[in-house]
Amino acid sequence: MEKNVINTDLSGKTAVVTGAGGVLCSYFAKVLARAGAKVALLDLNEEAAQKFADEIVAEGGVAKAYKCNVLDKDNCYAVAEAVCNDLGPCDILLNGAGGNNPRATTDKEYFENGDIEADTKSFFDLDKSGVEFVFNLNFVGTLLPTQAFARQMVGREGCNILNISSMNAYTPLTKIPAYSGAKAAVSNFTQWLAVHFSKVGIRVNAIAPGFFATKQNAALLFNPDGTPTARTGKILAATPMGRFGDSEKELCGAVLFLLNNDAASFITGVTLPIDGGFSAYSGV
Ligand SMILES: NC(=O)c1ccc[n+]([C@@H]2O[C@H](COP(=O)([O-])OP(=O)(O)OC[C@H]3O[C@@H](n4cnc5c(N)ncnc54)[C@H](O)[C@@H]3O)[C@@H](O)[C@H]2O)c1
Repeated sequence: MEKNVINTDLSGKTAVVTGAGGVLCSYFAKVLARAGAKVALLDLNEEAAQKFADEIVAEGGVAKAYKCNVLDKDNCYAVAEAVCNDLGPCDILLNGAGGNNPRATTDKEYFENGDIEADTKSFFDLDKSGVEFVFNLNFVGTLLPTQAFARQMVGREGCNILNISSMNAYTPLTKIPAYSGAKAAVSNFTQWLAVHFSKVGIRVNAIAPGFFATKQNAALLFNPDGTPTARTGKILAATPMGRFGDSEKELCGAVLFLLNNDAASFITGVTLPIDGGFSAYSGV
């Protein structure tokens, strides 16, 4: 078990994590449980959420999985009621469900003459429903669970909402216009919510992960012989610290810091980049 780098104690708190069947949020769910929280793992993929809930319980933590579609308001409200009955009112909401879709992604980084006729998916071929899917999942999928769970926070001190933005919210990455715009909207919404809830004891922040090497993206980042791929070369050249982040230590440290009501008690409305300087660097 990794040590809780900043000794955040979440004992007695109820934490809700959406997208908890996924790569990063299953990990965040475990970290919150290890800090003492009772954790509700919400995901469209109930089996995945259940697997990680079982792992938390096997470690001695308190966790329960729920099937939840963050795009269905009634479903979010029904799950919020179930979580409250099972684990108590929500103190922490981590809005983790999100992601991109190939239908909203161009094949090439730069548009060139001839691309309209060529067999390539250019800007002009982006699919409207794919763009809407990505906007909805990241933005509406943050707003609806917040409506459902923040009701339980109102008037109770020390509650927190943590959203997940991205590097592309600052400056869009190539090929993914909808995902970049949607994450910019998540950062903007984080500020809006922080102001809106500032009088009722709810802090609202976000993290913006930079580039992290995980088992899932290893094949994209490293050749079978362990040498870096061309993409890795570009990422590391644009990251002043010259390395990938360590998701277990460096992302979780930021999550625990922002949720810590002693260390971060006067912090609300920020999107914290965890990126080795990527978002600060102009490339020159
Ligand atoms: N992986 C990264 O490097 C990275 C970087 C920056 C930001 N992020 C963001 O972090 C978050 C988690 O990313 P990840 O890489 O762990 O993604 P992931 O794809 O592994 O997990 C996403 C989870 O969300 C669930 N989900 C999808 N649609 C849903 C819906 N409608 N209702 C409920 N659950 C739904 C999926 O079933 C999946 O389990 C996302 O918001 C992502 O945009 C990831």
